[in-house]
Amino acid sequence: MASLAECRAHIRLLHRMDEAECLEYLRRPCQWPRKMRQAMHGKALALIAAARAHGPSEIEAFLLEYSLSSADGQALMGLAEALLRIPDAATKDAMIADTLERGQWDGHRGHSDSAVVNLSSIALTLARRGVGLDLAQWPIRQALEFGMGRLGGIFVMGETIAAALRRAAAADQAGFRHSFDMLGEEARTAGQAESYRASYHAAIAAIGAASPGQGPLSGPGVSVKLSALHPRYHPLQKQRVMAELVPVVVDLCRAAQAVDIGLTIDAEEADRLDLSLDVVEAVLAAPGLAGWNGLGVAVQAYQKRAIGVIDWAAAAARHFHCRLSVRLVKGAYWDSEIKRAQERGLPHYPVFTTKAATDLSYLACAQAMLAAPNLIQSAFASHNAATIAAIDVLAGERQDWEFQRLHGMGEAVYRPMLDRRSCRVYAPVGRHCHLLPYLVRRLLENGANSSFVHLAADPRVAPEDVVNAPVDESRLAPPVMIFSPQRRLSLGRDLCDGETISHMQQRLAGLSCGDVEIPAGDPQDIVNQAIDAFAGWDGLGGARRADMLECAADLLEAEPEPFLHLAIVEAGKIWVDAIAEIREAVDFLRYYAAEARRLCVHALVLPAVTGEANQLEIRGRGVFVCISPWNFPLAIFIGQVAAALAAGNTVVAKPAPQTPRMAIAATALLHRAGVPPAVLAVVLGGADLGADLVGQPGIAGIAFTGSHATARRIAAILAQGQGPLVPLIAETGGVNAMIVDSSALPEQAAADIVASAFGAAGQRCSALRLLFVQEEIADSVLDLVAGMAGQMRLGDPLDPATDMGPLIDAAALARLQADQRALASHGRMLFTGAVPETGVFMAPTAYEVGWDHLPTHESFGPLLQVRRWRRDQLPLVLTWLRQNGHGLTLGIHSRIDTLCQQIGKEARIGNIYVNRGMTGAMVGCQPFGGMGLSGTGPKSGGPFTLLRYATEIVTSINVTARGGNVDLLCRRK
Ligand code: NAI
Repeated sequence: MASLAECRAHIRLLHRMDEAECLEYLRRPCQWPRKMRQAMHGKALALIAAARAHGPSEIEAFLLEYSLSSADGQALMGLAEALLRIPDAATKDAMIADTLERGQWDGHRGHSDSAVVNLSSIALTLARRGVGLDLAQWPIRQALEFGMGRLGGIFVMGETIAAALRRAAAADQAGFRHSFDMLGEEARTAGQAESYRASYHAAIAAIGAASPGQGPLSGPGVSVKLSALHPRYHPLQKQRVMAELVPVVVDLCRAAQAVDIGLTIDAEEADRLDLSLDVVEAVLAAPGLAGWNGLGVAVQAYQKRAIGVIDWAAAAARHFHCRLSVRLVKGAYWDSEIKRAQERGLPHYPVFTTKAATDLSYLACAQAMLAAPNLIQSAFASHNAATIAAIDVLAGERQDWEFQRLHGMGEAVYRPMLDRRSCRVYAPVGRHCHLLPYLVRRLLENGANSSFVHLAADPRVAPEDVVNAPVDESRLAPPVMIFSPQRRLSLGRDLCDGETISHMQQRLAGLSCGDVEIPAGDPQDIVNQAIDAFAGWDGLGGARRADMLECAADLLEAEPEPFLHLAIVEAGKIWVDAIAEIREAVDFLRYYAAEARRLCVHALVLPAVTGEANQLEIRGRGVFVCISPWNFPLAIFIGQVAAALAAGNTVVAKPAPQTPRMAIAATALLHRAGVPPAVLAVVLGGADLGADLVGQPGIAGIAFTGSHATARRIAAILAQGQGPLVPLIAETGGVNAMIVDSSALPEQAAADIVASAFGAAGQRCSALRLLFVQEEIADSVLDLVAGMAGQMRLGDPLDPATDMGPLIDAAALARLQADQRALASHGRMLFTGAVPETGVFMAPTAYEVGWDHLPTHESFGPLLQVRRWRRDQLPLVLTWLRQNGHGLTLGIHSRIDTLCQQIGKEARIGNIYVNRGMTGAMVGCQPFGGMGLSGTGPKSGGPFTLLRYATEIVTSINVTARGGNVDLLCRRK
């Protein structure tokens, strides 16, 4: 058998493997004889028939009535997720009214045998009729709250562990074992982690007391989420996690061992798998736990690595002389895994992209588990009759394993099997209002029309069709190919992979910044050279220019380390931001290349009267001066330059004086890709040089990104010029707000607030500066924000564990400190933190301010201002948004669609982000740029960008001049 280290290496290999290759690897052990496959099939049909005879559970009835692919189903899910946690009646009513708008409820009344379904339908129908009346006068809110509470009750075993234990002992649970899950979503703060720790300990004690002497295998157990026990459970914080979390888990295990119950570590996102295995190995090695058979791990079959993790579990059990329980699940985060992989431009998905592949992986894993009975205690969790039947056949007469199902689901399938098979119920414990997000995830996972649970519960679908349901078997395109054929998405780095991190560390350690070599030449000469080079470059055509930009993108992607190094060392960016910076530059290059091919290759043929040909060509304007800031020293520099070059202009670029090396490296890259030096020149200097360039005769356009004050100065210089009027494309700053209402999920809002306000040390133009948070949830949101900000680690950005690097320079810090002094005089400090002894740092800081002191200018750093609002003060918020004059970004956190739409309509803001962070616009997907004091437009990275860098030439030809209108004369019927 392979060693632990070999198993870990194999897991990494599988993770990086192409999906098809991975499937091939799994298929081999799953080629069962025909007879066996027939037995599996027959058993599946029998299970479905038996389950139907038993009738659907309330959840299944709910899913049937409210299909999740219908507007009603989605609206109701939204209501279920939010209603119970909204503290104030006004927002609850707004949420209900919004839900009513979105569905057709009349058709549902009395359709179902389920009380919850009927109650929801009746309540919604009544309310629908009442729309336009004052909802507060109706008992409807109470009816819906009751309905949602019932829904929670169906999924939740009990609101406390004592209640859950009582219910587990009730007659309707007879025959089932239980594993109690103290539902914790991930902890964001040290306080949350501590409270989850305490509640797990209490649960262990209570479960142990309720079931003396049953042992971990047949007695009840507890399921633990590692991310609930540590506020920074992330691979980049591995050192901290191993030092702080392992002792906590060891303690919990010892407590479980003392009362003789099992403890299973739940599965989480793919990013955390490797770290979880580190933690489990460390826990198994802890003194006193050696030889303990109570520890379990959950393994997700949808991960390509699953089979490797099974082998690892067997190896770990052998190594530590114990038996490890393995709960095999299919996996609950599939859609978010796919999304994250696409966002991060990973070379492969961590999960299989088809259902069939996951099913195959599940059975391959099951087989491997059953083959190691001395090392692995197997538990198979599924609600799919085909999977259950296959396991049942594979296991044959053996009894040393169990099935598992979720509380509220699958009872009808399993109950008839209890005489032959053991089955454990995974039983969530906790307050209904906290569980509803969990419940919605479960419903979404099982309730999609194509899902087994949905089909099996639908009596209109024949059992044969349930088992053989046609599913979309096409694999998803790899993340970097999602925009093909137009362009490839930039390749990201997987910073959750320890090997990638150490490889990058080695590469970065070998690099040095070097001295800046100031390119020779007088600005006027450089501009003249660019003027001379213009005709040739413009004449080259869009396709040739696109080739060069794409070549530059490929070069950058092939060897990003020198640029990453500069982003970190010269601009102070942390790793994650440095990678994002390089990716954005690559995306700009490819996007504008694609735009050049779209717009600058073929002339656009225009309508014409007969005998005439009209066409429009997009051509360069001449020499563009591109002036960029330091905060995106590569992405904005390259973005401006690539747009100008793509459109056919020659360029003189002036980067910010703080980041000259990056600009020189980027220029050299474009030269290597074929752009002639006369077509793109870089000049180094500060404000004076910038002003000098802008005033040069012969300039045909300016692209500027920086402060509003500088943009004004540039406009003033241009206004004094004598020649042709020179267009100015200016992207400037903003005083960006986020509006959070009480329907928002505080944890999600807080995470986005922290990322938006303090990410990149607040040195992003899009960063959050002013938070409007509704009074009723303000305390809970702000506590979370403070707790999360307090977890951020300030320091050397070269260390991958650093969350916040230094500010760009002492002048930036001095400006922020001046702002802070002003805030201290009229505002109330909410939190700040310690800074490293050396370096120019500012800790994440927040002040609460009055309506009279809302900010009027941008504080370019990690300084957040907060204003509470009552629902009736929304007009004040909207007035501020309209009147402050800036219009760059706006965040909204609310579950009420109509509110989001109203705000979006009334605010004049360039980029609006709903229920997400408000930074990190993606080229081509979220064209970026503001209005008002925030810039002139066009947005960067959008379908209209190139047009503003270009000029248009229309040619009209009288085609009859040479011998008459042949087309007209030769016209046939
Ligand atoms: P800044 O305005 O001081 O400098 C920007 C660039 O303009 C630098 O290259 C600088 O040397 C040059 N410059 C300064 N005075 C000039 C003059 N009189 N004539 C010509 N060029 C001159 O801005 P900073 O501090 O470098 O960047 C931060 C600002 O940029 C913030 O206000 C931020 O919001 C804004 N920004 C806006 C973005 C957007 O897309 N809207 C993106 C990134 C930053």
